[in-house]
Amino acid sequence: MIGSFPTTRHRRLRQSPGVRKLVAETALINSDLILPVFIREDDDATQNVPYPGFYHYAIYELKELSEKASALGISALMLFPIISSDKKDPFGLESTNPNNLLIRALNVLKSYDLPLGIWADVALDPYTTHGHDGIIIDNKIDNDTTINKLIDLTLLLAKHGVDAICPSDMMDGRVSHLRSALDANGFQDTLIVSYTAKYASCFYGPFRNLLGVRALEGPSDKKTYQMDYANVKEALHEAAFDVQEGADMLIVKPGLPYLDVITKMANMYSTPVLGYQVSGEYVMVKSAAKEGYLDEKLAFLEMCMAFKRAGARAIITYAAIEIAEWLTSHNE
Ligand code: PBG
Repeated sequence: MIGSFPTTRHRRLRQSPGVRKLVAETALINSDLILPVFIREDDDATQNVPYPGFYHYAIYELKELSEKASALGISALMLFPIISSDKKDPFGLESTNPNNLLIRALNVLKSYDLPLGIWADVALDPYTTHGHDGIIIDNKIDNDTTINKLIDLTLLLAKHGVDAICPSDMMDGRVSHLRSALDANGFQDTLIVSYTAKYASCFYGPFRNLLGVRALEGPSDKKTYQMDYANVKEALHEAAFDVQEGADMLIVKPGLPYLDVITKMANMYSTPVLGYQVSGEYVMVKSAAKEGYLDEKLAFLEMCMAFKRAGARAIITYAAIEIAEWLTSHNE
């Protein structure tokens, strides 16, 4: 039974903020947000960030940042280290140095004991000279050799108290191997937040530049391991494997151009699906706002609500602090 005009008027439910809020089908709250954080060496202050809105944090700046994020009710920080080029090699050896930048940052953040998840991306690209996420053998990213290295990195992170590891490498079978390694070493409670459907995307450009990856060496793109953006059934197949292998949450990445993937995955699986608004998406809004073409506050709020409407349980976004501040002031 549907109504008809003039007894039914859609605009009746749109006439005031109060009634609009009452009938809103979707809500966006601060705990829906996860903030990716770039960590730099303390003495690396001269490094310019060539994109509007991006920051990288020295370890001594993490106290203020994490207290702010926690006070705002953001759910977690997701850490990415910016490794200096002299510490990179083809095998990503620095990733398992127990005194590396990521572990030092993790130790400091965990010592504050805030009600804030401390998550870490797990892949080799911050540490490799060629910029790929895995180890190259015969000009190919070798699946199983890479997984072995990721197991070592995962166990190191778990030992230092990380709340969630986020494998972003797209190797086959890594979730089951990482889960088994964690469980065998007493880390049953460490979450695996898997990049389930990670597409080979141009929108990662700013991120790669920030990490110091100038051009990929060996294979010139990541298409042999990241997904083809023509596909969605493949994403659901990936999700089936990740759920089966023990992933606690599933990430779809990039975000806004992939809302169809989020919707389909969220409809099919009860495992929470997270959307990642990646660096290129963030910079599009920031640069347009800088030129005066867009109101960034309105743009980010609308985009984040769209993620939620599509079925995302939460959103990983570089704008998390700004959005949380806007939401907080709006609700006061
Ligand atoms: C790599 C990784 C990438 C991002 C997160 N983890 C880049 C890539 O796959 O090349 C991109 C994030 C962003 O663009 O914001 N392991």
